[in-house]
Amino acid sequence: MEIEERKVKNRKEKEETRGAYYYAKNNTFSKQNNEIPEQFINKIITGDSEEILKRFPENCIDLIFTSPPYNFGLEYENHKDGINWNEYFDKLFAIFKECIRVLKYGGRIIVNVQPLFSDYIPIHHILSNFFIENKLIWKGEILWDKHNYNCKYTAWGSWKSPSSPYLKYTWEFLEIFCKGDLKHPGDKRQADITADEFKKWVYAKWDIPPEYNMKKFGHPAMFPEPLVERVLKLFSFKGDLILDPFNGVGTTTVVAKRLSRNYIGIDISDEYCRKAEERLKNIQVNASLF
Ligand SMILES: C[S@@+](CC[C@H](N)C(=O)[O-])C[C@H]1O[C@@H](n2cnc3c(N)ncnc32)[C@H](O)[C@@H]1O
Repeated sequence: MEIEERKVKNRKEKEETRGAYYYAKNNTFSKQNNEIPEQFINKIITGDSEEILKRFPENCIDLIFTSPPYNFGLEYENHKDGINWNEYFDKLFAIFKECIRVLKYGGRIIVNVQPLFSDYIPIHHILSNFFIENKLIWKGEILWDKHNYNCKYTAWGSWKSPSSPYLKYTWEFLEIFCKGDLKHPGDKRQADITADEFKKWVYAKWDIPPEYNMKKFGHPAMFPEPLVERVLKLFSFKGDLILDPFNGVGTTTVVAKRLSRNYIGIDISDEYCRKAEERLKNIQVNASLF
């Protein structure tokens, strides 16, 4: 039996009635994008992102890709992980407020998070609400399937009973937001994604293994490089300025340099920043992993 594709009649008119991304429409963002002073470009900066970002002009960053600490209680060098959730969100929102300010009109912020399921805190939803309340357009969500469990295989909750089964996950989330406009201006000749990569990566479930080399870098929660490469090629042009305000040992900045983007990485740990600098020294420009 042939299944007929479901068609919506008068689609345009209905779209107008509904009002796409109505929540972001009455924003007061300036459309005037600015240059950032040279002294910040292609630099790793040690410090608290909330403070450092205050020194940047508004509307100067093309794309922010980052992963904040998730408050699980990991051992970071100079950050206390596992604090009261209210305190955690206050600080995170203060940093993300600055991120929104420094993002260009037409810029994007992409945040990788994993909720702490055992605390029943949906960080990805709470963060999404924050960005929506601050008038960003929610572009979408990517499921990054790492194919490793977020808990012990034997964490069943109420075994064989519906009273309280424990749900398990092998994936994290990437939440994508745009400031002012869904379109990011750029010269098409500076796009470096191939047709095959584009076809594959717009399918929003990405199967990428986690970073297995964290011991080597002495950091407990690193991005794998292929994840950063996909984000940068799909959402930014060569020459764009990329910021990671929780840069750790510098994976975002390393991949940005390799793919001929400009970068700024900020982390509160001097030790992580030094490792990021070391990694950057050995990077060859224009060397795709794929
Ligand atoms: C999940 S890790 C990011 C790791 C990074 N994606 C990588 O590949 O190395 C979060 C980082 O945020 C840093 N951090 C925590 N609070 C910060 C703050 N207020 N300002 C800047 N960095 C902070 C921590 O030191 C930690 O390295």
